[in-house]
Amino acid sequence: MSTHLILLAAGEGTRMQSERPKVLHEIAAAPLFAHALASAEDLDGQRVIVVGHGGDKVRAAALALDENIQVVEQTEQLGTGHAVAMAAPVLADASGDTVILYGDTPFIQPDTLCKMQTARDAGADVVFLGFEAADPARYGRMVTDGTVLLKIVEWKDADDATRAISLCNSGVVLAGTKTLLRLVEALGNDNAAGEYYLTDVAALAQSEGLRVEVVTCDEAETLGVNSRADLAFAERVFQSRARAAALATGVTLQAPETVYFSKDTVIGRDAEIEPNVVFGPGVTIESGARIRAFSHLEGCHVGARAVVGPYARLRPGAELSNDTRVGNFVEIKNTQVGEGAKVNHLSYIGDASVGAKTNIGAGTITCNYDGVFKHRTEIGERVFIGSNTMLVAPVSVGHEAMTATGTVVTRDIPEGDMAVGRARQENKPGLARKLFSKLRAAKAAKSGE
Ligand code: UD1
Ligand code: MG
Repeated sequence: MSTHLILLAAGEGTRMQSERPKVLHEIAAAPLFAHALASAEDLDGQRVIVVGHGGDKVRAAALALDENIQVVEQTEQLGTGHAVAMAAPVLADASGDTVILYGDTPFIQPDTLCKMQTARDAGADVVFLGFEAADPARYGRMVTDGTVLLKIVEWKDADDATRAISLCNSGVVLAGTKTLLRLVEALGNDNAAGEYYLTDVAALAQSEGLRVEVVTCDEAETLGVNSRADLAFAERVFQSRARAAALATGVTLQAPETVYFSKDTVIGRDAEIEPNVVFGPGVTIESGARIRAFSHLEGCHVGARAVVGPYARLRPGAELSNDTRVGNFVEIKNTQVGEGAKVNHLSYIGDASVGAKTNIGAGTITCNYDGVFKHRTEIGERVFIGSNTMLVAPVSVGHEAMTATGTVVTRDIPEGDMAVGRARQENKPGLARKLFSKLRAAKAAKSGE
């Protein structure tokens, strides 16, 4: 039987003080809602996201991430129960179970959803996820009898005795799809907020004699993002987990607290990451590669045993094969660098291919942009590009060719040829000495004035 997902993401997020819808704010270079979707990645049913504030932007981002996601709109935010009811038409014919998650709650673990499923499989009709809160603040309070959940009382509606309960509602719910949709249709809004509370499903189900249970998780999982401070905190939490996970899988981090990961960063065993390295989205590092200090990488692939940096920048489309070297102050974009090739110093290589075993000299630049169009530079294998070569694209350099230092390459270089494109040097005998004495005399005359 399938388990479906309803992701609630219609809220305004006023406290973010932002033009951007809350769930599009990012941690680890991925929007909040993408983290929530990842919590549910093991579910095999339909995925429905409920959008409201900034709906068009959230819809576009959700579809870009998952083309099969169903987007439904909640035009007025009348409460969490009302939001779930908006998804009813999409799941009207669905059987199986449904999980509800919040788009602004990024750290619910797939294992926790499994635990809820286990409770459900053992006979519970509705399962709510709770947690023991260090500071229960304004969370909904769970009134229980053992693992049986009698009701959830929202803080606004709770008396002092209920507010003293520290078991709080996370917002995550699992139930049979048909039961859940029937119950949310029946919710009223006679409460302190005048909202349709999803939490009232607990008492409603109880009154029908259904089995309602609570499963608990660690409070760290239920962390929701409501402000920029929460966002910064969530980023810290994510990063420290990502560092621990990298270490646990055999990656060396010399100074873990200075390395920043994206949600999708993949690093192979025995890779070594020196201090102050930033991984933007879309990076894969193969085993045994070394990323030296102060390098910035995004959208790139680094082959086994490659060495990158210090101070290197790999931009989207940089594909470094095994055993390559990219040195200090080198920027590489949309370029395939063949096995064993080296770009060691002060270069920009963009929209290019560099063949195996080729050496790119210091200060080489692919002049790829003419102000309107981008052009490619193709460099063959075992080529030697002399220092300070300008490769004016589109241009190609054949296998085992060479360029002389300072050459401006504007024509293709055939295989095995050497290109020399610079003014011929002339030496003027004794002229330097003459000039020096003239200049020094001028300086002496000036200071004697
Ligand atoms: C909710 C719970 C509370 C729980 C807390 C945990 C209810 C009534 N209360 O309270 O018991 O302790 O979460 O964080 O459910 N949303 C919509 N449409 C709406 C309203 C909300 O999509 O009309 C979405 C929001 O975008 C958000 C989520 O639902 O992702 C939760 O809404 P929020 O307003 O934060 O609920 P709380 O008051 O925090
Ligand atoms: Mg909230």
